[in-house]
Amino acid sequence: MIIPVSQLPVAGKRVLVRCDFNVPILQGEITDPTRIDASLETIRWITGHGGAAILCSHLGRPKERTPELSLKPVAAYLTKVLGRKVALAPDCIGEVTCRMAETLPMGEALLLENLRFHPEEEANAEDFAHELARGKSAYVNDAFGTAHRAHASTAGVVAFLPERAAGFLMMRELEALRAFTENPERPLIAILGGAKVSDKIGVIRNLLTKVNTILIGGAMAYTFLKARGIAVGRSRVEDDKRELALQLMSEAANRQVDFVLPIDHVVAAAPEAGAKAETVVQIPTELMALDIGPRTVEEFRNRLAGARTVIWNGPLGYFELPQFARGTLQVGEAIANHEGLKSLIGGGDTAAAIAHAPWAGRFTHISTGGGATLEYLEGLVLPGVKALER
Ligand code: 3PG
Repeated sequence: MIIPVSQLPVAGKRVLVRCDFNVPILQGEITDPTRIDASLETIRWITGHGGAAILCSHLGRPKERTPELSLKPVAAYLTKVLGRKVALAPDCIGEVTCRMAETLPMGEALLLENLRFHPEEEANAEDFAHELARGKSAYVNDAFGTAHRAHASTAGVVAFLPERAAGFLMMRELEALRAFTENPERPLIAILGGAKVSDKIGVIRNLLTKVNTILIGGAMAYTFLKARGIAVGRSRVEDDKRELALQLMSEAANRQVDFVLPIDHVVAAAPEAGAKAETVVQIPTELMALDIGPRTVEEFRNRLAGARTVIWNGPLGYFELPQFARGTLQVGEAIANHEGLKSLIGGGDTAAAIAHAPWAGRFTHISTGGGATLEYLEGLVLPGVKALER
């Protein structure tokens, strides 16, 4: 059983709170604070109920202490939105940091420096986890986006902090994923995009047992099309996955899952800013497909019109360039405008692709987890969730 932070007695306790503050930062400025905002409720709950919140997170994938990957901008952002000083400790372990945590007044929050400045974090080293727990008496994990990692701060630390709970964000994410995958209203459609079939094999396999229809877009569609003997020009293809693509399609047919591939394409010479885009049905040998075409969008819209639930993971084109973002945006808009359709949008690239659209607020649930959502959809146990069980 996992208890929510609202059932954890926090008054008078120093609570180690694992957050996922792995946010995009450009020249010291946070460009998308969604993940930080999503954890404010948990932080406010702990400080508002007489606890001291000692926040920790990773940022990026540093191999050693790297000034650009300091959590300093996050401390400044938290100070602004919480309306009270959130100091940044010089490290996540060590004497000075430990003293700062131990003298933090109840009702206040402190941010520890990037956990990944220590390789022991990712190695889930016992000594490091012990150090992290020093001076704290309870543990709350609100880092859904990192729940697929068995690291010291997401897994090992619970051995030293038996009083533990899930934060509100973690609870919300798990409840949404459970509702969408365990007892969804049907028809249930999965839309899968992104670059590689190899990243989505597990997800496709698992979703084939649950969904009525799978719509495929993004570069990975071209491995499936090539496997079917369709000419794909210079489109990105994983040749070593063609056999597997055929197997997945025949498994879909056996299970009577409608497996829908693009029927027209937006093509160009390269995924470059100045590239001239054109729409085709047959991909010329010298060009590559970088988005789904308008007929495919129409086809996807038609399937979605009859659906009750949709799970979407992965952009449908090279959305970073506007001339190849249309398919993703039009399908997104169709979902957002479909009254009564329950929609779960995977985090990471999918959320980034639609984040600035005016209708982005109309989805049922946009996850803050990219990899974590994918692993959940694969049917895997998330170590960060398992560690919270009591
Ligand atoms: C993410 O952004 O998906 C999470 O913060 C996990 O980051 P990681 O892939 O570097 O472990």
